[in-house]
Amino acid sequence: MQDKPVALVTGANQGIGFQIAKDMVGHGFTVLVGSRNLERGEAAAKEIGPDAHALQLDVTDHASVATAAARVGSEFGRLDVLIQNAAISNTGFRPGVSVEEYSKSTRPSVVSIDEMRAVWDTNVFGVLAVHQAMLPLLRGTPGARIVIVSSGVGSLTTNSDKAFHYRAIFGPVYPASKTALNALMLAMAIELEPEGIRVSAVSPGYTNTNLNGYNGTETLEEGAREAVRVALLGPETPTGTFTRWEGETIPW
Ligand SMILES: NC(=O)c1ccc[n+]([C@@H]2O[C@H](COP(=O)([O-])OP(=O)(O)OC[C@H]3O[C@@H](n4cnc5c(N)ncnc54)[C@H](OP(=O)(O)O)[C@@H]3O)[C@@H](O)[C@H]2O)c1
Repeated sequence: MQDKPVALVTGANQGIGFQIAKDMVGHGFTVLVGSRNLERGEAAAKEIGPDAHALQLDVTDHASVATAAARVGSEFGRLDVLIQNAAISNTGFRPGVSVEEYSKSTRPSVVSIDEMRAVWDTNVFGVLAVHQAMLPLLRGTPGARIVIVSSGVGSLTTNSDKAFHYRAIFGPVYPASKTALNALMLAMAIELEPEGIRVSAVSPGYTNTNLNGYNGTETLEEGAREAVRVALLGPETPTGTFTRWEGETIPW
């Protein structure tokens, strides 16, 4: 077993996940850079430095998830922090289509069930698959913690408020996948509380990444900040939380 604490970040070859991986290395962790494409993962790990290691991990592929978990066990022997970051916002966003136009095409009355299923497969079922595969390792590592990268757009309370500016884009594909993810996170937190494994969800804020066509207003450093803050919290901290930058609670 290796001496340094080990963190696994899913979807860490680019965007917020990449920045989380980089920051966790800065905090003394050995970081496994989860990437569905191994070459992109290796390039990202190389850019981060010697304490980052690429790990082929497609969260929708059961064989990939199982192989990744076996590799973490055999090569590193521990898993202190699991950061579930990988997600997609759609399966084929056409350039030139505005967020408003895309949102209209994904309203409950017209949404493609296949599109919804594909996004939920990554953002919800993929998270549960990785959770189940990595749990034996987390259980074997005292003080282990799970951080789930969710989104404020999944908040039912916020979207119920008629004054909320972005209410019109709340829909069944990406936003509701994050609502479901929050429910999943709470169920995980409740189950694991007696074992001392803390589970929390965070929202990065509107960050400049591929996910939103690089329209986000926050930098990668800002987007990664809450996930990293929560990942470093000690054992005497609450579980089942949903927060954004600096620990501000987001209403369910
Ligand atoms: N950007 C924002 O404004 C914002 C706001 C709120 C929440 N978030 C959340 O922040 C997290 C990171 O998103 P981001 O903005 O950094 O987006 P991003 O730059 O598009 O990165 C997403 C990452 O997830 C990976 N991924 C997608 N499907 C995968 C799969 N099946 N298996 C493994 N990895 C997969 C991508 O891999 P590839 O490179 O191979 O595509 C990529 O590494 C997501 O959970 C997102 O919902 C983002």
